[in-house]
Amino acid sequence: MSKCKYSKRRFVYSTECLIGRKREVENLKTLLTNKEEKPWVAVVGLRATGKTTLVRSVINEIDKDSELYIDIELLKDSPLFQEDPLKALAYYLLVVADVRGLLKDSAHRIFFTPTEHKKSSKKTAKILAKLLGPLLSGESELQVEIQKLSKFELNENMICLSNVLLHLKTDARVFFDEIQHLTGRISTFAEQLRGVFQTPKDPSDKPWIIISGSVITAIKPFIQASAKDAFYLQAFEEIKLDTLSVQDSIELLKRCLIEKGVLKKRQLQDKTMRELVESLLTTPAQELGGFPRALVAYCEKIKTLNDLNNKDIINNIKSAVKAQAIEELRHIAMMSVVRADQEREKVSTLTLRELFKRIKRAYNEMGTKGAFKKSLLIKTHRIPKDIAEYLIDALKEHKIISEIYDGYSILDPLYREAMVSINIILTKDIKKIMKVEHFPFQ
Ligand SMILES: Nc1ncnc2c1ncn2[C@@H]1O[C@H](COP(=O)(O)OP(=O)(O)OP(=O)(O)O)[C@@H](O)[C@H]1O
Ligand SMILES: [Mg+2]
Repeated sequence: MSKCKYSKRRFVYSTECLIGRKREVENLKTLLTNKEEKPWVAVVGLRATGKTTLVRSVINEIDKDSELYIDIELLKDSPLFQEDPLKALAYYLLVVADVRGLLKDSAHRIFFTPTEHKKSSKKTAKILAKLLGPLLSGESELQVEIQKLSKFELNENMICLSNVLLHLKTDARVFFDEIQHLTGRISTFAEQLRGVFQTPKDPSDKPWIIISGSVITAIKPFIQASAKDAFYLQAFEEIKLDTLSVQDSIELLKRCLIEKGVLKKRQLQDKTMRELVESLLTTPAQELGGFPRALVAYCEKIKTLNDLNNKDIINNIKSAVKAQAIEELRHIAMMSVVRADQEREKVSTLTLRELFKRIKRAYNEMGTKGAFKKSLLIKTHRIPKDIAEYLIDALKEHKIISEIYDGYSILDPLYREAMVSINIILTKDIKKIMKVEHFPFQ
C-alpha cells in the first residue's frame, strides 16, 4: 500500500489516498480534461471536508505540471493584498506562472521589460517582496526566480487579473482556493473571470479555472446566472463535497492508524479483533462529524489502542472543530452584510461595529435557545430585514439550521455551542475588506 502520510500533515496528493470520493474524482477528472469546453469548476463544501485535497489530487493525476495553485488564505496576510486583493492576485499569479513555465511565449514582452536602471529594478523587487514576503518561506525556487525578475521592470498598466489569465498557457489549470477571503470583492472577481471567457477566442485557447472555498454564499455569484449581470456567459460546474459517511470515516481511521503503526494489518485479519477495533472506531467516526481533517487530527493523538477509549481525546478534537464552526459563522455574517449592501445599492446607516454587535447577540440567543424565529433577528435584535434574510438563507444552505413549523432550529449541538461563544471581531482590516467596490470588467 502506498504511503499517504495521513497523519504527517504532508498528505500525498494522490487519488489513491482519497477515501469516499470515487464519484467526485471521476466527475472532476472528466471536467478538467475536456479541452473543447474548458468548463469552469466550483468545488463546494464545508470547512475541512477535503476540497483542496480532492482538486490537487486530481490535477496531480492528470498533469502535475499544469497546476497553478493559489491559496488566498496565505496571500491574505500580505500588505499588497490588504491594499488591493485583486492586484495582489494578478501579481502572484504572474510570478508563479513564470516560475512554473506556464506563461505563453509572448507574455514576457507584455509584462516584463528588461531594464538597466537600478531604480526600476529595485522597485520591481520591492513590489514583489511586499507581495510575496509572507509566502516565501520554504519556496526557494520562487525566491531565486524573484531575484531574476528584479532585472525587469513590471508593466503595471498591463497587470490585471483578467489579462494575466489570458496570457497563461492553454493547458494551465488555475486553482483559486479559499475565495471567501475576497469577501468584499467577490463580484468583481467573478466578473473578471467571466470577462476572460467572454473574449472572442475559443475555450481551448484559455486555461482551466477551478475555484473553491468553504463559504457557500461566497461561491454563489460564480455558480448562479444573474439576470442583472451583462457579462454572464457560462455557469460554473459545481462539485459538492459532503462529510464522510460513518463507514468511510472508520476506513480513514483504520488506514491512518495502520500507517502510524498503532494498528497492524494482521490484527484486522482476525474477525473478533477487527470487530472490536471497528466498534471502538465508531464513536470517533460519529462524534467527529465525518470531517476528514478532524479524523486525521484524532488519529494523530492515538499512541496505543487503549487511547481509543479516551474521551478526552475526542473532546479535544471537537473543540478544534468548534473553532472552525465559529470561523464559518463569522464569514456567513460578513457575506450576508456584503450581499445586502450590493443589492440595496445603498450602504446601511448602521455602523459595521453596531451591526456586528447585534448579529453577535442574535447568534448568542439563537445558540442558547436552540430554536428561533425570524422576528428575533429583525425585531428583537434590530438587524435590517434584508441582512436577516440573507443570514437565514446562508445558515440554511450550510445546513446549520433547518425550518420547523414556526421558525428555525439549530441542527448540530456543536454549532449551538459555537453560536453561544462567537465573538465577531471587527478590526480595521475587515472594515476595509467590507467596503464593497463594484467596477465592471473592461
Ligand atoms: N477523501 C479523503 N480521504 C482521506 N483523507 C482526506 C480526504 N480528504 C481530506 N483528507 C484529509 O483531511 C485534510 C483536510 O482536507 P482539506 O484541507 O483538503 O480540506 P478543505 O475542505 O480544503 O478544508 P478548508 O475548508 O479548511 O480549506 C487533508 O489534509 C487530508 O489529510
Ligand atoms: Mg482547503
